[in-house]
Amino acid sequence: MKSILVTGGAGFIGSNFIHYVFNKTNFDGILVNVDKLTYAGNPNNLVDIDKQFGGKRYFFEKVDICDTEKIANILKSYNIDTIVHFAAESHVDRSILGPKEFIQTNIVGTFNLLECARNFWANRNDVRFHHVSTDEVYGSLGATGFFYENTPYDPRSPYSASKASSDHLVEAYKHTYNLPITKSNCSNNYGPYHFPEKLIPLLILNILNNKPLPVYGDGLNVRDWLYVEDHASAIWTILNKGIVGETYNIGGENERTNIQIVNAVCEIMAEKHNKPKDFYKSLITFVKDRPGHDKRYAINCDKIKNSLGWTQSVNFEQGLQKTIDWYLSNPEWINNVVSGEYKNWINKNYETR
Ligand code: NAD
Ligand code: TYD
Repeated sequence: MKSILVTGGAGFIGSNFIHYVFNKTNFDGILVNVDKLTYAGNPNNLVDIDKQFGGKRYFFEKVDICDTEKIANILKSYNIDTIVHFAAESHVDRSILGPKEFIQTNIVGTFNLLECARNFWANRNDVRFHHVSTDEVYGSLGATGFFYENTPYDPRSPYSASKASSDHLVEAYKHTYNLPITKSNCSNNYGPYHFPEKLIPLLILNILNNKPLPVYGDGLNVRDWLYVEDHASAIWTILNKGIVGETYNIGGENERTNIQIVNAVCEIMAEKHNKPKDFYKSLITFVKDRPGHDKRYAINCDKIKNSLGWTQSVNFEQGLQKTIDWYLSNPEWINNVVSGEYKNWINKNYETR
C-alpha cells in the first residue's frame, strides 16, 4: 500500500480510521480523503492530521463519489492502489424520512467507485477495494443466535437495503471482473467524532443540555457495540492480512439493550458531574418506536479473530468512559457541530408512546 483513497474520511468512522493510520501504524505512503462534506462530514475531525501531514502525505478532495470524472481523475493523479470505502448516508432514521440520498450515495456511489476502480486498475491484482458495510444487512435476530458471514441477507430499512445492494455490487465485481475486493460487516460503533444524531453522542449532548433522552419503544432492542478505534484496527488488519475476495464480520461482542446504554451513560455523566448516580435518569423519555425497528443485532466475529488475529482492545465500560471523556474535553468540537445542520434535526418533535 503506497497510496490509499479513503472515501467518507470526514465522517465518524472514516476520520477515526485516518487518525489510526497516521498515528498507530507504520504506513508511510499517502492518503487521499474524498468526501462530499454532507451534514455528517466535518473537516474539524481531521484538523490535527491536516496540520501535521496536509499537502505532504494527507490530501483532502471535496468530491461526491457519484462524480465519475472527478473520481477517475483522483485515482489517476494520486496513482491510488488501495480504496477504503466508508462514504455513505448512515442514519436509519433519516433513511426512513427520505430514502433517496441513500439510494444515490450508497448504491449509485458505490457502483461508480467500482467502475472507476475497474477501469483504472485494469486487471491488476496488487491493488485492493475494501468495502465497509454493516451488520444491519443481515436483518433482525430474535432472543438468540448470531450473524455469521454466510447469514442470508434480510435488510429491513432503506439504509440497510441500500448497504445490502452495495455489498452485492461489490461481490458482483469480484466474480465478474476479478476485482480484488475485501468486505467487512460491522456492528454499531461508538467513540470520538460521532455525529450526535446517533444514540450514544445524542445522549451525552442531551444530558449536557438538560434535554429529554428519547428511548424508542420499550428500550429493549439490542445492539452489539464496538469502540470505533477497534473497527479501524480491524479494517487495517484486513487490508494487511485479509484474503482477497473474503468478507469479515467485525463486532464488539458487547450486546446491550438500549435502556442499558441510556442508564450507563446517565451514570457516568452523573459521576463526572458529582451528582447522585440516578440524577440524569429523570430525563429518560420513552417515545414512539422507530418503524420497522430491528429487534436485535449480534455479530459472530470468530473468523477475523481466529484467521487474522484481530481482537478488540477495550471492553464496553472502558470504551464508554473514553468516549464520554472525549466529548467532555472537546467543547469546541461540540459547539461547532451543534451550530450547524444538527439544530434542525435535534429540535424535531418526538411523539410520546
Ligand atoms: P457518517 O455519516 O458519520 O459519515 C459518512 C461520511 O460520508 C461523511 O463524511 C459524509 O460527508 C460522506 N459522504 C456522504 N455521502 C457522500 C458522497 N456522495 N460522496 C462523498 N462523501 C460522502 O458515517 P459513519 O458512521 O462514519 O459510517 C461510515 C461507514 O461505515 C458507512 O458506510 C456505514 O454504512 C458503515 N458502518 C457504520 C456503522 C456505525 O455504527 N456508524 C457500523 C457499521 C458500518
Ligand atoms: P442508532 O444509534 O441510530 O444506530 P442504528 O439504528 O444504526 O442501530 O440507534 C441505536 C439504537 O438506539 C437503535 O435501536 C435505535 C435506538 N435509539 C433510541 O432509542 N433513541 C434515539 O434517540 C436514537 C437515535 C436511537
